[in-house]
Amino acid sequence: MALSGKRILLIISGGIAAYKSLDLIRRLRERGASVRPIMTKGAQEFVTPLAVGALAADHVFTDLFSRQDEQDVGHIRLARDCDLVLIAPATADLMAKAAHGLADDLASTVLLATDRPVLAAPAMNPKMWAHPATKRNIETLQHDGIRFIGPAAGEMAESREAGTGRMAEPLEIVAAADSLLDDGPKPLTGRKAIVTSGPTHEPIDPVRYIANRSSGRQGHAIAAALARLGADVTLVSGPVTIPDPAGVRVVHVERAEEMRDAVLAALPADVAVMVAAVADWRVASAADQKIKKHPGESIPTLALTENPDILKTVGHHTTRPKLVIGFAAETQDVEANAKVKLDRKGADIIVANDVSPATGVMGGTRNSVKLVSRDGVEQWPDLSKDEVAERLAAMISEQLMRG
Ligand code: C5P
Repeated sequence: MALSGKRILLIISGGIAAYKSLDLIRRLRERGASVRPIMTKGAQEFVTPLAVGALAADHVFTDLFSRQDEQDVGHIRLARDCDLVLIAPATADLMAKAAHGLADDLASTVLLATDRPVLAAPAMNPKMWAHPATKRNIETLQHDGIRFIGPAAGEMAESREAGTGRMAEPLEIVAAADSLLDDGPKPLTGRKAIVTSGPTHEPIDPVRYIANRSSGRQGHAIAAALARLGADVTLVSGPVTIPDPAGVRVVHVERAEEMRDAVLAALPADVAVMVAAVADWRVASAADQKIKKHPGESIPTLALTENPDILKTVGHHTTRPKLVIGFAAETQDVEANAKVKLDRKGADIIVANDVSPATGVMGGTRNSVKLVSRDGVEQWPDLSKDEVAERLAAMISEQLMRG
């Protein structure tokens, strides 16, 4: 447990998810960490400093201009006398401030003054999370080196609204903090991994394209899980709306051919996990100009041509990674189709899942998969995509270690 003996500066900002921070404090302390809380004004509307201070067994810092606190500790020391700054919940407002370097209260000032690692657990309404302003701010903060955990998808606490915006669960935050603080050797240190994720967009003309419903959640989660185990990860992602995972090199592409080129450029690697839902076909000759609708003229037909099969290319490559893993999204005969794919694509493992609309897998957050290899078939229980990623990363590290 990397958390043992570590000092966590916990910034609680003003969202309903602040109630989960009480549990988070307990979980951190159970693991031997000490927690020094800072609460924004907003946070104090949701939980009281009394409760936070009692659980943390420390003074709660709330005010930038408190003469007493400044004398005792001082905001600069507060920002540096810790091993990790953890923001949970991190509101859209606090992240907007941090992205712009504003410092008009204690929390934002500490974020500007700290030279310690920062981990943020965002929580907000799904519309706020999806807003371009929030997206821009998150991107800026990621670029500045701030790590993120969540938000997750699900029902919001304050409304019946569903979508992405729920704060990660306290135990997930604890695990993320633990791995961030863990600087010991990890099982995949020194190993290179390539992961593809998301859909591809195949242009019809400059404004239209052929796409599919892949969200990129599973591929991104796998890239993040491999990075947490110490791997040097290149994630080649098609167009998705989810943020880049922390600690991963991301190459953004649109078309299957661009994805193949990026994957081949990232070789050699120890493991390749091809999760992207690559379009099987593209338009044979995409138009340079927008195809116009002219009254009375016939309806255009799209002539398609085959896209490169990236998994197959990697599976049969001269510098083939030791472990090549594919995904098979099927709506029928899941297992039989996966077995055929193993040989055809030169893969070691096919992770097969049923993506019939009734399962809600495509675009959803859960997954029920079967691992098909030459050794047989292993059915995994219904898990979140993050849990599938954790298990798969653990299995990859085990197989690579076996040699
Ligand atoms: O044949 P199918 O598309 O079902 O195979 C799925 C697997 O192959 C996935 O791992 C996917 O990422 C990969 N694939 C690919 N390039 C393609 C089509 C599929 O890498 N053109």
